[in-house]
Amino acid sequence: MFIQIPGMIDPHTHLRDLDWSHKATFASETAAAVAGGYWAIFDMPNTPPSTTSRPALDRKLAALRSQAVCDWGVYFGASQADNTNQYADAAGDVCGLKIFNNATTGDLLIEDQAERKRHYAAWPSSKIIAVHAEEETVLDILALVRRFRRRTHFLHISTAREIAYLRAAKDEGLPITIGVCPHHLYLTQDDAHALGSLGLMKPGLKTAADRDALWEAVASGLVDVIESDHAPHTLAEKQSEKPPYGVPGLETTLPLLLLAVREGRLSLERVVQLVAENPRRIWSLPCLPDTYTLVDLDAGFTIERGQLHTACGWSPFEGMRVYGKVRETWIRGSKVFDGEQVLVPPGFGRNVFGEAA
Ligand code: DOR
Ligand code: ZN
Repeated sequence: MFIQIPGMIDPHTHLRDLDWSHKATFASETAAAVAGGYWAIFDMPNTPPSTTSRPALDRKLAALRSQAVCDWGVYFGASQADNTNQYADAAGDVCGLKIFNNATTGDLLIEDQAERKRHYAAWPSSKIIAVHAEEETVLDILALVRRFRRRTHFLHISTAREIAYLRAAKDEGLPITIGVCPHHLYLTQDDAHALGSLGLMKPGLKTAADRDALWEAVASGLVDVIESDHAPHTLAEKQSEKPPYGVPGLETTLPLLLLAVREGRLSLERVVQLVAENPRRIWSLPCLPDTYTLVDLDAGFTIERGQLHTACGWSPFEGMRVYGKVRETWIRGSKVFDGEQVLVPPGFGRNVFGEAA
């Protein structure tokens, strides 16, 4: 059976390029996005130079404008050196503000609650704040949401305890949404040994009980979005003595979710909500005409590195048998991917957040 999914969005990717173009480029990773079925993907600010100033933002927008083959958005980043005076100007061109509240790849980290408060107070209410917050840090951020009432998306939630905190916050009526990544649904600490450094990411792999709590929250509708946290690093870097955190995911998210449909863990309707309807609603984006993904639900395949478009050329899911092949991706009336190749030139993609075209 074939299905059409309108306007898929991955709101959590680290596309690299700029000073990290040896890892991946906007051209290579937007190609991976359309191969994964996506209409639009949103890029995080931690690739050097960090997207924390107007010049850095302009450099990234220009590079995406000339290279992207899918539509896109970018986050502005909260920086330790106070950059809040740039927020009003930057907000119009971006999908939101990202605040890193726990350590990860890059040097954007805000651990001081008074500093976090300054960023929350300064960010315009028209755009969302997306947060990396693990365990008790979730409670710190909820205190800010309660105080400033800024819409906040909790990225890559990975534990049963975090889910419990966020369930209570939703019951309280706080304006929050929740994202979960496929690697936290399909992999646990038990896989860490076999995966070695290819299983290293932030937040890290958790217990089977955490994974089960995530599946329950995804199936019940508490979780709003499945996001890849696509974070390509070269195989040489991953196999080095100090491997960086992060795994790719743009091309494996949809087939992994459709495997869950086949196994009876999720309904097809829920998958469409998680990868398309909910992100469009959260980021207030329309369903564009003739923008959809055609998927063959019955096509099974084994995830192999040779098939991937991402420049990093590996996946933590290699060897897994999944279902659901992207046969065509359409954006604004153009077929951009035919199941094997990208059909549009670099620069086809547009910023979906207001920047003058
Ligand atoms: O594992 C991760 N890698 N987690 C993040 O939050 C950042 C990302 C990266 O940029 O490599
Ligand atoms: Zn991330």
